[in-house]
Amino acid sequence: MTDHRPPAPGPRPEPRETTLARLEHLERRAEAGGGEDRLRKQKESGKLTARERMELLFDPGTFEEIDKLVTHRCRDFGMESQIIPGDGVVCGHGRIDGRPAYAFAQDFTVFGGSLSETNAAKIVKVMDLALKMGAPMIGLNDSGGARIQEGVVSLGGYADIFLRNTLASGVIPQISAIMGPCAGGAVYSPAITDFNVMVEGSSYMFVTGPDVIRTVTHEEVTKEELGGAMTHNATSGVAHFAVPDDAECIRLIRELLSYLPSNNVDDAPRLAPGDPVDRETPELDTLVPEQPNQPYDMHDVITRVIDDGQFLEVHEHYARNIIVGFARLGGQPVGIVANQPAVLAGTLDIDASVKAARFVRFCDAFNIPLITFEDVPGFLPGVRQEHGGIIRHGAKLLYAYAEATVPKITIITRKAYGGAYCVMASKHIRTDINYAWPTAEIAVMGAEGAVNVLYRRELEQAEDPAATRAQKVQEFRDAFANPFIAASRGYVDEIIRPSQTRIKLIAALASLANKRDTNPRKKHGNIPL
Ligand code: HXC
Repeated sequence: MTDHRPPAPGPRPEPRETTLARLEHLERRAEAGGGEDRLRKQKESGKLTARERMELLFDPGTFEEIDKLVTHRCRDFGMESQIIPGDGVVCGHGRIDGRPAYAFAQDFTVFGGSLSETNAAKIVKVMDLALKMGAPMIGLNDSGGARIQEGVVSLGGYADIFLRNTLASGVIPQISAIMGPCAGGAVYSPAITDFNVMVEGSSYMFVTGPDVIRTVTHEEVTKEELGGAMTHNATSGVAHFAVPDDAECIRLIRELLSYLPSNNVDDAPRLAPGDPVDRETPELDTLVPEQPNQPYDMHDVITRVIDDGQFLEVHEHYARNIIVGFARLGGQPVGIVANQPAVLAGTLDIDASVKAARFVRFCDAFNIPLITFEDVPGFLPGVRQEHGGIIRHGAKLLYAYAEATVPKITIITRKAYGGAYCVMASKHIRTDINYAWPTAEIAVMGAEGAVNVLYRRELEQAEDPAATRAQKVQEFRDAFANPFIAASRGYVDEIIRPSQTRIKLIAALASLANKRDTNPRKKHGNIPL
């Protein structure tokens, strides 16, 4: 590579034309990235270049690059002769749907997008600006990790970024896209950010790669199996979205931002509702099956209730027994949390609790009202769950809901049993409005389980145990498997007709528009991590 460092300052200022020519030359050099061959390789592997990604991310013509001429300061390992303006990362700001946003895009064609001291300083600068301006921060990751030639200076740069990620958490939305390699400690910046989008086939994340694993544990695993997009979307839960290519990745980030406020004191952007606010949903009157053990798909409830059926599901492939995502009701963005009776009967397990807890905390931090659709038979029983710490992890969801001060509305569609009743945004943990459908069953446990405990001896001695059990189950169901006791106590504010759900929710949201609630003053709580 050619040396493009500016020559040592001469005794006289350069004529203006020379300065301009030099600027144009350096800008062209920055835009050429790692050169034609590497750019071609990037394209051939199905990836866009860092600049193309930035241009797509921001509204047309709004991207302003900063620090385009920054170069590294490394003089070791022959680096003094390899200087590329920009140093492997494109940073700047622009508008997304008209609102300001900040971003960096690592340029894999320049030293593998690796993080040098100056490259980190560019990222830190743009993060500081985003935080100061109260605007979202988007990181497009495509990097070989720490710049090997720079050693600890590069590690320091990572730590500088991690600090900013942490300080900005809960203040501005932070979104990471993984659009190439992201390995070693580098993964911890995306891990702290609010959402990770991974591109299928071209991205991977891991702390230690297949070679190290083979040496240490003798396990054979491919990069894709270890840390590809679907691994992190379906198995580890590290990523929230999987997308087929770069263009879809950028489109999804823009869509996600459309539901979010720019910062923790702004309101999320409201759209003029196209979908009538007085639209009834008669299909929901017959959606819940007669048989309590028969599943149904909670997506059918969500999509019928929300504006135009448009649901941006988060963590779609992970812990599918709970559904979380963004939607609009009467044009107002809301966060939805819903048990999914079609998967594991909608029970809460470790993964579902952690998934939903993080989502609830995100919505609370950014003043996005929470709507909870509840059909939960309880926590998932089992030795694996108990030994895995379902007590600790289930407590995360309870804690998250209890501390949340945003408007909270719950609709119990069917089961609300046991501890899970308390956890899933019950009245007792400061939920503002609790509705139940007539099909709701609110009890300590299901009728079968309750009869086994309460009538064990009687059943053992019965002449016809099956008939006695059936009779007792029916008695229990008649007494408890309904919403009336909860409604008589005021734990449920109203039993609503399912067909009215959308109308009721929109009215409830309007009534909560000025909600102000606080928690006791403290440095921070101690969520059971
Ligand atoms: C300097 C790097 C680099 C790095 C890649 N390059 N990674 N330069 N530092 N970390 C350079 C290569 O030398 C090469 O330069 C160019 O980028 C493209 O790399 P290739 O290897 O040709 O690309 P590919 O075959 O696609 O492989 C990509 C890769 C591989 C799997 C990422 O480059 C790789 O294994 N890199 C090292 C990864 C690593 O161990 N990083 C440190 C992790 S630890 P030329 O001139 O030939 O084009 C870490 C700690 C962070 O990051 C700690 C935070 C707390």
